[in-house]
Amino acid sequence: MSHHDHDDDVVTNTSNNPHILEVAEARFTRRQTLFGGLSATTVALFGGLSLAGCDNDDDPSTPPPAEPLPTPKLSFVPVAKSTADVLTVPDGYTANVLYSLGDAIKEGIPAWSDTGTETGSSYADRAGDHHDGMYFFGLAATGATPDHKASDRGMLCMNHEALTTTYLHAAGSTTVGGVRTIEDECIKEMNAHGVSVIEVKKTAGSFAVVKGALNRRITTFTDMELSGPVRGDAQVKTKYSTTGTKTRGTVNNCANGYTPWGTYLTCEENWAGYFARAADDNSKRTGDHAKEVAALNRYGNAQGAVGRHRWETVTGDNFARWNTSVLGTTTDGTDDYRNVINTFGFVVEIDPYDPTKTPKKRTALGRFAHEGCWPGPVAAGKPIVFYMGDDNRGDYVYKFVSEALWNPADANKADRMAVGDKYMDRGKLYVAKFNANGTGDWVELTFNLNGLTAANAAYPFANQADVCLNSRLAGDAVGATKMDRPEWGAVNPANGEVYLTLTNNSNRGSASQPVDAANPRNYDADTGSTTTSLNGNVNGHVIRWHEDGDSPAATTFEWDIFLFGARAAYPAEVNQSGLNANNDLSSPDGLWFDPRGVLWIQTDDGAYTDTTNCMMLAAVPGEVGDGGPVTVAGQATYKGKNLGSNNLRRFLVGPKDCEITGIHMTPDGKTMFVNIQHPGETGSLAAPLSHWPGGGTARPRSSTVVVTRDDGGVIAI
Ligand code: FEO
Ligand code: CA
Ligand code: CA
Repeated sequence: MSHHDHDDDVVTNTSNNPHILEVAEARFTRRQTLFGGLSATTVALFGGLSLAGCDNDDDPSTPPPAEPLPTPKLSFVPVAKSTADVLTVPDGYTANVLYSLGDAIKEGIPAWSDTGTETGSSYADRAGDHHDGMYFFGLAATGATPDHKASDRGMLCMNHEALTTTYLHAAGSTTVGGVRTIEDECIKEMNAHGVSVIEVKKTAGSFAVVKGALNRRITTFTDMELSGPVRGDAQVKTKYSTTGTKTRGTVNNCANGYTPWGTYLTCEENWAGYFARAADDNSKRTGDHAKEVAALNRYGNAQGAVGRHRWETVTGDNFARWNTSVLGTTTDGTDDYRNVINTFGFVVEIDPYDPTKTPKKRTALGRFAHEGCWPGPVAAGKPIVFYMGDDNRGDYVYKFVSEALWNPADANKADRMAVGDKYMDRGKLYVAKFNANGTGDWVELTFNLNGLTAANAAYPFANQADVCLNSRLAGDAVGATKMDRPEWGAVNPANGEVYLTLTNNSNRGSASQPVDAANPRNYDADTGSTTTSLNGNVNGHVIRWHEDGDSPAATTFEWDIFLFGARAAYPAEVNQSGLNANNDLSSPDGLWFDPRGVLWIQTDDGAYTDTTNCMMLAAVPGEVGDGGPVTVAGQATYKGKNLGSNNLRRFLVGPKDCEITGIHMTPDGKTMFVNIQHPGETGSLAAPLSHWPGGGTARPRSSTVVVTRDDGGVIAI
């Protein structure tokens, strides 16, 4: 483990300096310093990755100094855009299906029938739907011992974000007059959400799922602890947990994260839509409860809302909990589920190696449409930092900085959830401001600081639990920058810079979300014109930042726009990154740096689908400041250096009507796991838009694929 700290003594915070030339000069100086400081940063990063190097809990041994990461060179031939119902990988590569919707994870569960007749309860032991964020946790050759260098056996954790009910049931979901009439369908849907934790093992060169004792499904039924500032708060007391310490289940788990102590993080994204609220509920929330209405509205649970799948219409406590209306007679909500929505919207920590451990909702990291949660560079004696986005039009980018300082001995503790308590329950939450001059500020979201007080007019804050529960309202109060739908983040192992996808925003350019430096585009979807029929930021972009002083806990940073999504045919003003046929893309969403420094970009697109299905690309990025200032239709911004086909190329194109989301790799770089979500989503049972992966007349199924190189080499480089 590293004990090095890199102190960057160059003052680069130019927030008092609006002159572009001086900003550029500061950036140049930064680049020189960065180069000199690279190895120290890299040591810190490798320290976080080489967990298995320390076998003795009491001996945080110092590894030999690491060399700077060599710049990777992409070696594969780019894949062409395609609208065919196939999964395409480069010549010399193979993709095999590993794990699909409905696959059994335990012995004794019948195989998927392709008829949708499996029971609802059987889905507690089957793959859920809509595979999303994913992580491979290495295992020793036998037993449940973590081995973070293992490439042949591991626990694969993945999210099941949502459902395509068309194919999940025998003939779609049954709703009569707005009421779900078949309880078992609802149970199936509630089980098909959540997380899979499955053992995977390589035998004779191929990975397969092992139906072993470590496997478990985490669903909307799974008991969860509330942990951190919100635990026990008045706003999370429910009929299920009158002390406000627990809740049932996790839902709409989108992207993910991991911790340096070997746990999985699953993130609750569009949970608000699952809850119903009565049309007259505002009138029930008066007096001390009046401010609840502002919170419910800000989070998308306005009165009159109906549940996404109308689970609330089925009789019984497991269904009533999807209704946030005031129905009981207590003033504290312990006889109904008026507060249940406050128990969703968190980062949830899961121990992938121990199925007996209760997941914990880490409330200190805020409550919003959590896309994912990615740790910054890890260094001994420094805080643990997590980067997070709130995927909503015009919502914010956050980070959490732990109060506890990293002790490398914690990397190999047996009680991983207790280590999580140490680093994730106490710390500071920050929200990002991206300034017009290319600098940025992290604004602390702490009760009684920065206007987060009982006197805040839009929403009077009561305490830190209230700030954590209502992070969006806290971000509003401090003037955080409204972003173009923050999706995944990724941290460059070469230099600690953070990348974050902004997938698209049809509201950009509206009165409430005018273009700004960090979200500069508003143009026509068909032509790319910036003068007619403006459709907002149609294709999205990827922003990146460099924390000042190379310190993940810094409160200031420098940013630029790494990559602008676009059709290659658009005018250069909108196709700012000069994308061509080998690498043009739309709506970047999934994002991941592999340990060699290759950045993987996955798309969830609806704007370029006349030309191509969703895709995954590989990039070799430079660094913040390697491009320069540009303007888009008069809006000034900063962009990264264009990559060209050498440093950005398409690696995979998915089947029809899917999204590519979720990626991880074994430590040897030879096996890549990729998730293909909702192929054929908008088709009907009579006319499915896709038959992938089964082919013929098979129903389409969300699936994990394993990508390998035919010559057995490392992937992509
Ligand atoms: Fe689930 Fe924001 O994508
Ligand atoms: Ca996503
Ligand atoms: Ca998305």
